[in-house]
Amino acid sequence: MNDLTKQKILKNRELLKAYIAADAAPEPTDQQQKLPFPLPEKEPRSGEVISLPTDFEKTAGEKSLYELIAGRESCREYAPEPLTLNELAFLLWATQGVRKFAGRFQQVTFRNVPSAGSRHAFETYLFIQNVEGLAPGIYHYLASRHALEVWEDRKDFSEELERALGGQNFAVKAPVVFVWSAMPYRMEWRYGLKSHKYMLIDAGHVCENLYLACEAIGCGTCAIGAYDQELLDELLGFGPGPSAEKDYECAVYAAPVGKHTK
Ligand SMILES: Cc1cc2nc3c(=O)[nH]c(=O)nc-3n(C[C@H](O)[C@H](O)[C@H](O)COP(=O)(O)O)c2cc1C
Repeated sequence: MNDLTKQKILKNRELLKAYIAADAAPEPTDQQQKLPFPLPEKEPRSGEVISLPTDFEKTAGEKSLYELIAGRESCREYAPEPLTLNELAFLLWATQGVRKFAGRFQQVTFRNVPSAGSRHAFETYLFIQNVEGLAPGIYHYLASRHALEVWEDRKDFSEELERALGGQNFAVKAPVVFVWSAMPYRMEWRYGLKSHKYMLIDAGHVCENLYLACEAIGCGTCAIGAYDQELLDELLGFGPGPSAEKDYECAVYAAPVGKHTK
């Protein structure tokens, strides 16, 4: 290992710790400085939102938690059949669904996954190719309304998506690909330099819920961490990084979903 790599590894290892050396004498966080709080989710781009069903309790089936955990495995082959809207709504609810609003201005969301300080720094995007009732396209989940909006009105993304997912061809054969982005400032506002560790831990909760929820409805998924950052960010229309701007957003994790092959 050369010295440069060693230095980078040392720096990155600091991320694993509860606090990092550079934070030993931290400046007050933006929250402590009473700067305005960031919104818990992105506002819809247009007025047109697609409400999602909420009556998916029965869709979730009757497998026990034991069976869901024991059956969970990464799935890289999907049946050609579509997902129903109810199934998709259930997966979105399980991964980012909002249960409660709190705070003086109802600006804090409590969701079906835990998040450090309930900051919930993620947005969910869906590359949909085969979901009943939804035209193929790129969608954005509006968690607090349990609704979708069309993010990009285009149907022909599969080649670009395959490249953006590091050439992992199995992923673009799925009826839907989840991509989670982080809006780091939502976490940094409260936790400053500790935020990045927390966001990565939080991402694990989200994807594990997706695995278990998929298992409950006869679907499979596979976490994808090996994607092309620039291409995926570009495909979702995020500005180029690195950036310390408050509205900066970048993709952090992806997961294709489809029915198990029999
Ligand atoms: C953070 C993370 C990133 C991953 N990235 C990929 C990936 O890019 N491509 C892939 O095929 N699998 C990926 N996986 C899936 C792992 O390969 C898989 O979980 C592992 O082989 C164990 O298999 P299991 O999930 O069936 O237990 C990833 C898993 C995690 C947790």
